[in-house]
Amino acid sequence: MKIAIIGAGYVGLSTAAILANTNNTVALIDINQERLTAIKQGRSFFYEEGIDPLIAKAVSSGTLVATDEYGDNIKEADVVFSCVGTPDKQDGSSNLEYVFSVAEKSASLMKRNSIYIQKSTVPVGTGESVQERMKRPDIAYISNPEFLREGTAIEDSIYFDRVVCGGNNTQAIDTVFTLFKAIVKQSDELIEIAGLTKKDSPIPPSYLQTSLESAELIKVTANAFLALKISFANSIAKLSDEVGADILEVMNAVGLDKRIGRSFLNAGRGYGGGCFPKDVSGLISSMKQHNADPQILEAAQDVNKSMSQYIVERLEKELGNLNGKAIAVLGLSFKAGTSDVRKSPGITIANLLVERGAKVRAYDPKANDEAKHSELNPNVSIEESTENTVKEVEATLITTEWSEFKEQKATRLAQLMTGKRILFDCMNIYNPSAAETAGLQYIGIGR
Ligand code: NAD
Ligand code: UGA
Repeated sequence: MKIAIIGAGYVGLSTAAILANTNNTVALIDINQERLTAIKQGRSFFYEEGIDPLIAKAVSSGTLVATDEYGDNIKEADVVFSCVGTPDKQDGSSNLEYVFSVAEKSASLMKRNSIYIQKSTVPVGTGESVQERMKRPDIAYISNPEFLREGTAIEDSIYFDRVVCGGNNTQAIDTVFTLFKAIVKQSDELIEIAGLTKKDSPIPPSYLQTSLESAELIKVTANAFLALKISFANSIAKLSDEVGADILEVMNAVGLDKRIGRSFLNAGRGYGGGCFPKDVSGLISSMKQHNADPQILEAAQDVNKSMSQYIVERLEKELGNLNGKAIAVLGLSFKAGTSDVRKSPGITIANLLVERGAKVRAYDPKANDEAKHSELNPNVSIEESTENTVKEVEATLITTEWSEFKEQKATRLAQLMTGKRILFDCMNIYNPSAAETAGLQYIGIGR
């Protein structure tokens, strides 16, 4: 099939890398020249395991073309995917400016009876407004939300749980399902190209046709529910800190109840990234707009916002005034497995420490470069290794669960650090007693 994908970000590029290796030709359109240059060279602009070999193969075989040209690429496409950003506005609602503008531009070029697929996460009701703006009733408009996670984007794009297609053109929706079924069929080959680990008997995905509004709501509901679970775990972790319970013991047992499940109950420094924070605030806005009850999500958002402050205040309790104290922050990406630093809790925490006069050194195995161009306070010194970062600091905060940090020997940390030697494990990845035995003062979240 001839496919055009608009927006070469995390979603657009991951989608393109897969579809261009499953017997389609893909024109990946973006306005960001830096991103396009990287893709033309056969690589991604962000760190994501498995993506580069897929891009390289597709670019070299000519099935993936990165371009800023709409023209013929849109005119000739059977299917156009919109994967542009939907950031939050100051008031928390979604900025749909890119969604609308690329839809209007595409509508003026697309061939008759082709398919327009909205992959971007949008508030419920957006599809209807987009169609009104497109003024092309012959084009099938489908909401096909994306569920991949950064850090496992390629694995998630090959072994997906479900494909949701919202809209009323069943024939067009079947065409979209065919694209995904081809991925399942070629999963072994794709995994091999990506150099990832093959799943022996993956659970077959579900293919769901829904109304447009349901599809839009499924996406934000899933993200908001996961965010809710995290904030719930963090609320219980704060209580655990007060009463001497261990949040890991609590959640490991609670999660064994199949009705609840263990996933997304890891307490820590809270959720970040380009999606949960904005999708929760976007859903709150939709709820307010339609007079539904946003309280439960507002509470989740408040708990999440409180976590960085909670961590810094706990550190102050142990270390006293932070002014002039050397402190290490390990982890600047919003989660392990990615170089993405959007709304990263590690960055928020580092900035709060600087505001209190601490001398902050930080390191991330993959996100140092992106952090340099982020909201990170320029007074934070970015280091090139864990050892350099923790040398002679009084406290080390682990803010991303990179395996490199997990494997860091407590004894070595204790040797390198000075003073109270506090290990503040904001991801609960360390064994507290091993840390204490090594001479570190261990603090976790809810432990
Ligand atoms: P992103 O910001 O990384 O990428 C968006 C891209 O769109 C950018 O490269 C930008 O230059 C491009 N763009 C903007 N205007 C354009 C135009 N007029 N023409 C061509 N390109 C244009 O965003 P992302 O993280 O890939 O997210 C995209 C959407 O997918 C968002 O709605 C997000 O919520 C959703 N989503 C993201 C993820 C994720 O893991 N990042 C997962 C699921 C869903
Ligand atoms: C999330 C969803 O998991 C994806 O399904 C969705 O497609 C995506 O958002 C999106 O819409 O963009 P992502 O943000 O890449 O994916 O990463 P997650 O693994 O969900 O983690 C989000 C944040 O929550 C991270 O900061 C992570 O550290 C934090 N988290 C996660 C916790 O604090 N505790 C947990 O138990 C799990």
